[in-house]
Amino acid sequence: MNEKDVSSGVAAASDAPGTVEHIYPHEHPESDRSRGGGFTLWFTGLSGSGKTTIAHLVGPALDERGCIVEYLDGDTVRTHLSRGLGFSKEDRDINIERIGWVASRLTRHGAAVIAAAISPYDEIRQKNRALVEEFGPFIEVYVGASVEECARRDVKGLYAKAFAGEIKGFTGVDDPYEIPSNPDVALDTEQLSPEQAAGVVLAKLEELGLIGTEVSA
Ligand code: ADX
Repeated sequence: MNEKDVSSGVAAASDAPGTVEHIYPHEHPESDRSRGGGFTLWFTGLSGSGKTTIAHLVGPALDERGCIVEYLDGDTVRTHLSRGLGFSKEDRDINIERIGWVASRLTRHGAAVIAAAISPYDEIRQKNRALVEEFGPFIEVYVGASVEECARRDVKGLYAKAFAGEIKGFTGVDDPYEIPSNPDVALDTEQLSPEQAAGVVLAKLEELGLIGTEVSA
């Protein structure tokens, strides 16, 4: 174990696996500095399944209900927080863990966090659930559409390249996507319009008591 310089008198963080580093007492999850009321909506699904589209319909509706909304979208995060990361399993895991960590911090401060990334691996999604649930609810939303349908939509033209072998390791083509086994919400975007899908998500949040049914004045 690499001893950190803790000469300032704060407690040393544990390096034991599975423990969270809380060097300062006020960083502890049970700290009363947590504002409460925050939650994270975690959209997962193939590229082109509709995650971002639905996220940007849900966001304004939450805003109207008085939530402080923040978006953590894979494409955006990869231009800032995760710039330089690629699409190996290792890099995807780092990307998703970063998004999860930021989501947990924002949740702690009462935000309605809307994360939208492919997040193909169940293990990391579950880790993020645990991280966020230290501070507020984590609602996993599976945005479902077949590879064939996403390739038909091919908004970014990436599926054509992946099928032509010009992009290697493309999720759903020659890279894995682990369908959530027990999502809080499952949306079939081959059957639902984006507006209908957003409505299902909002109804779930109402059912969970996380938002009111009335739009605040
Ligand atoms: S994740 O796997 O780490 O969750 P993320 O959601 O951030 O992925 O980024 C996915 C986006 O990157 C896709 O929507 C697509 O635009 C682009 N992309 C580029 N290469 C790939 C690839 N090999 N697999 C999947 N998406 C890719």
